[in-house]
Amino acid sequence: MKILVINGPNINMLGIREKHIYGSENYETLVETCIKAGEKLGVEIECYQSNHEGDLVDKIQWAYFNGVDGIVINPAAYTHTSVAILDAVKAVSIPTVEVHISRVEEREDFRRISYVRQACCRTITGEGIKGYEMAIKYLAEGEYKK
Ligand code: DQA
Repeated sequence: MKILVINGPNINMLGIREKHIYGSENYETLVETCIKAGEKLGVEIECYQSNHEGDLVDKIQWAYFNGVDGIVINPAAYTHTSVAILDAVKAVSIPTVEVHISRVEEREDFRRISYVRQACCRTITGEGIKGYEMAIKYLAEGEYKK
């Protein structure tokens, strides 16, 4: 099984950006956490991060042609604006979990809107980096099928 972890804009700035919201762990720690979670579950993990909407769409489409079984996605700010990312997730029909490090529903009103959510089998918010581990476990154990 292969799981692709996709992160959107400014997630590469973890550990630097708004630490009171996103914590002090950096993107490298996020990647290590995902890879370790994959090793534990016997799942291959690939992590991808981009600050560009079209690149995120390209990577979601790439997943379809490259045997990806599950996607964990934090589209970051594009969560609240991107119909293109929603359409890409719908197009590939790969089970996808939406993750947010912060508890988006308790922040500004515009963060309550998520376009991608309607194409996702689960949403995890406010669990920090652990949310990615939870999402990987959920996909690896096929929880979305139950
Ligand atoms: C985020 C929440 C978004 O609103 C924000 O734009 C981000 C990160 C999160 O992980 O909590 O960049 O997706």
